Amino acid sequence: MAVEWGREVTAGRGEPLLFDTSVPHFARVYDYWLGGKDNFAADRAAGDQAIRAFPDIAVSARANRAFLARAVRFLAGEAGIRQFLDIGTGIPTGNNTHEVAQFVAPESRVVYVDNDPFVLSHARALLASKPEGVTEYVEADLRDPQKILDTAARLLDFERPIAVMLMTILQHIDDEDDPGKIVATLMAAVPPGSYLALSHPAKDIDAQAMAKMARRLNRILPESITLRTGPEVATFFDGLDLAEPGMVQASRWRPVNETEAAGPAALWVGVARKN
Ligand SMILES: C[S@@+](CC[C@H](N)C(=O)[O-])C[C@H]1O[C@@H](n2cnc3c(N)ncnc32)[C@H](O)[C@@H]1O
Repeated sequence: MAVEWGREVTAGRGEPLLFDTSVPHFARVYDYWLGGKDNFAADRAAGDQAIRAFPDIAVSARANRAFLARAVRFLAGEAGIRQFLDIGTGIPTGNNTHEVAQFVAPESRVVYVDNDPFVLSHARALLASKPEGVTEYVEADLRDPQKILDTAARLLDFERPIAVMLMTILQHIDDEDDPGKIVATLMAAVPPGSYLALSHPAKDIDAQAMAKMARRLNRILPESITLRTGPEVATFFDGLDLAEPGMVQASRWRPVNETEAAGPAALWVGVARKN
């Protein structure tokens, strides 16, 4: 097996981190699909296996990023949100949450959360906040939402509305870990006027190809993937008020034009307000 051992970074914490680059990781596979350069041979091989099962996966990943940008523009613009808790950050790419939010409202405060040390090693690129705003990075696991909330409380004002962002991360939370309870815990902690912005790979769009892709990735990747149907994803919005056009396929959420709306995207997405 080809091993590219030993990419060494300090991640700003003083101690070096070593990555076994022969083991693919989802954040880097996703970076590969997005056309990024922060991935290794094992990630590209896993990414290619997925593409062979579901050829639209790279387009779908881009549709997810485009949705993220449109959702943050809506939140910082129309919805007037100035605080963002973006859990499952991923490797920095184009239109990162703080860039979009601070373009609309430079004073926006953004807290990123991820549990992958490789993502942490790239956090510096995320910390380039506009001087009026704040960008912070927290290493934590979504399966421990209270730790995320406790840490975020030092950085965000929980008396004022917060957009909780869970973009293509809940597929990594198995049903046994009760993703619904995790979402409910996060949303219970934020005040009325806050939002949940969420995207989730679909079980019932391009169902056969998506199932084949998930099976392949689950054989190769250490992080498992659970696809969910529209009705299953809709339960994450329980008790919240979905903004127009409701929960839809990623490319159909407020697309900028008809070409974007017609693009393939095997993801359910929505943005909802806590009243
Ligand atoms: C597909 S990427 C999504 C990146 C970005 N949110 C987006 O939608 O473009 C999923 C990210 O979630 C992170 N992740 C997966 N499971 C996690 C967990 N249990 N806790 C925190 N982060 C997690 C991965 O490390 C990865 O960076």
